[in-house]
Amino acid sequence: MKKTELLYEGKAKKVFKTDDENMLIVSYKDDATAFNGVKKGSIQDKGSINNRVSNYLMGLLEKKGIPTHIVEEINDRETVVKKVQIVPLEVIVRNIAAGSLSKRLGLEEGTKLDKTVLEYCYKKDELGDPMVNDFHIYALSLATKEELDKISEMSFKINEILSEYFDSINIELIDFKLEFGRTADGTVILADEISPDTCRYWDKTTGEKLDKDRFRRDLGNVEGAYQEILKRTLGDS
Ligand code: C5P
Repeated sequence: MKKTELLYEGKAKKVFKTDDENMLIVSYKDDATAFNGVKKGSIQDKGSINNRVSNYLMGLLEKKGIPTHIVEEINDRETVVKKVQIVPLEVIVRNIAAGSLSKRLGLEEGTKLDKTVLEYCYKKDELGDPMVNDFHIYALSLATKEELDKISEMSFKINEILSEYFDSINIELIDFKLEFGRTADGTVILADEISPDTCRYWDKTTGEKLDKDRFRRDLGNVEGAYQEILKRTLGDS
């Protein structure tokens, strides 16, 4: 399969059209941004780590019955994915209070939540991705009720699968962000990525943060954290 024109360049990825109209090629960049693009930098090897880790995690999910957009990893940085129409929502799943939830509700980071929290944010850079509820989603026709039911059901199942997996590699899955897309026949499948850019991972023994918060908060050893996630997930493969 060959890349043709550049379809879109985002903060962390480029997306290319291909000679197959149903497929795209995603190319992961080392560029890092935070706070809606206000903080900018670069993390060495982030592109290849996120590509490989995300593909590995989506592979685990596929095996457990979650349909994803992944078709084939073609090299360290690039993956062929199914072309989908992205549902303009960021779905955030939270097991432990951290980040914006801690700020908003005055909860100390690390507070265990009695129940998993699901949040939706409207994907709109110029508005800073505001949080919305199901009424807003239907009012703006961002998704149908049937689609949103499917999205929430899949998100909880993904949380169960990933929390159990990360526990097995001595990591607590604090929270993460998902995106979904519609295929040509209208099926909703998991899209985008699941990587240290889009999740919070805390080492279960030391509590060390092994994710993008090291970049956002200037905690140092950002590259080391990404490498550690690569090592724990893919090992030496
Ligand atoms: O910042 P906040 O606490 O809302 O982030 C919750 C989770 O969603 C974190 O794991 C963060 O990495 C992820 N996230 C993301 N992209 C965004 C916003 C949040 O991947 N635009």
